Amino acid sequence: MIAVEDPQVPEFVKDLQAIDTYAELREILTSQDFEMAGAAERTIFLEDTLIMSEGQRHSELKQLSAPLFSRQALAYYELHLFEPVIQQVLKDAQDNVDANGRVRLDAVALIKSALTRISAGVTGVDGVDTPEGTERFRSLVLQLGEATTGIFSAIPHAEVIELGKEALNQLVEEFLRPSLERRKALAARDTPKEDMPRDLLMTLCLANDLSHPDDDEKIPYVWRQCALFLTGSIKTTSHTLPHIVFHIDEWIKEHPEDRDKLLDTAFLHRAAAEAFRLHQTSPVRFRRALRDVTLNSGRKVSEGELVAMHQPRGNLDVAVWGEDTRYFNPYRDVPKGMQPWGLTFGAGVHTCIGQNLVTGIQNKGDTKHGTHGTAVRLLKALYERGAELDPDHPPQKATGTMNDRFATMPMILNAS
Ligand code: HEM
Repeated sequence: MIAVEDPQVPEFVKDLQAIDTYAELREILTSQDFEMAGAAERTIFLEDTLIMSEGQRHSELKQLSAPLFSRQALAYYELHLFEPVIQQVLKDAQDNVDANGRVRLDAVALIKSALTRISAGVTGVDGVDTPEGTERFRSLVLQLGEATTGIFSAIPHAEVIELGKEALNQLVEEFLRPSLERRKALAARDTPKEDMPRDLLMTLCLANDLSHPDDDEKIPYVWRQCALFLTGSIKTTSHTLPHIVFHIDEWIKEHPEDRDKLLDTAFLHRAAAEAFRLHQTSPVRFRRALRDVTLNSGRKVSEGELVAMHQPRGNLDVAVWGEDTRYFNPYRDVPKGMQPWGLTFGAGVHTCIGQNLVTGIQNKGDTKHGTHGTAVRLLKALYERGAELDPDHPPQKATGTMNDRFATMPMILNAS
């Protein structure tokens, strides 16, 4: 089994005080003495969104979007969004049947396609239901996401920002504006609430929260809200899910007695959570101290100081997870009071709002009420079709990026 390594970080991060134990990371994330911080590009694209706001404004924005992630909303999405999308992408993949009657596909591409459509559904973007529409939309969101995380990009900074702005303009013209206009018309017609789509754009329409006085000087408010939902959901989930598939394959090779568990949702939940612990979407995050602080460990942080939050290293902390922390183990004992995925979805006020969408609400999930989350739903659909990694073409990691992700993962499925 392969040991997980620490991710690479940009050079300037090495000049900042490094926070890399689980205890200190959690203390800072849940402390009122620190605020969200990050590179300037986050302000250009994400100003006054959940992730970039604090205090009262953060509470208001959270109150607005929280109903989209309620237990009831999740059950609705699982039946009306996840299942149809997963079945459709698997159907689209049936074109590539080999001489032995087996389907050959790239799991990275399939996962991206499914997740792009699901994220579009939650954000309220129409026109993403064909392979061509999905691909066009996804490439624009990826270009935008490259800009919002520009500090990790290999492209020069000014260039990546311009490319991000161009991508957002195209997204607005081709997808977001027409989707918003349709929702405005629904709201104006007094459509019964149960017949309206459940998504971010509809929520903003109904709350009449679509513009801000500074919209002429900046990227308009409503598109910034969409930018956060799209970049916060597509890249994150589609980068992480292939890691689960990879680790499960590794595990089954070493523990063939567990092969039957591939259809057991409890096992898949454990496997997904353990892979989430081992792989995070960002190699490092940032927080700024609002006053002079002494942490429980005795570490001192000065007012105004920017600290580097090495969350991937915190999730590998031997003191918490044990000596075998860098190795995938779906049966790992989770320390009391902790999440099995550690800090992968954050902690404190900025904890990921989409977490339940991805992980489901554990122990409560069943097919009828559906709260398994995108990860387990997608894995189960693949293993029901006998999914296995192509033994002749091993998966390849992405190069030229600090993001921990696979570029390709050839997979074989049974034809249905
Ligand atoms: C594997 C998938 C995902 C991972 C690993 C992930 C991770 C995270 C993390 C670590 C944060 C906190 C950032 C910080 O504290 O600096 C966050 C925040 C956020 N995530 Fe996710 N995320 C995922 C999927 C999603 C999805 C599907 C959505 C759906 C829209 C989403 C929307 C958001 C939003 C809006 C925030 C800001 C929350 C706030 O500041 O209050 N994420 N995510």
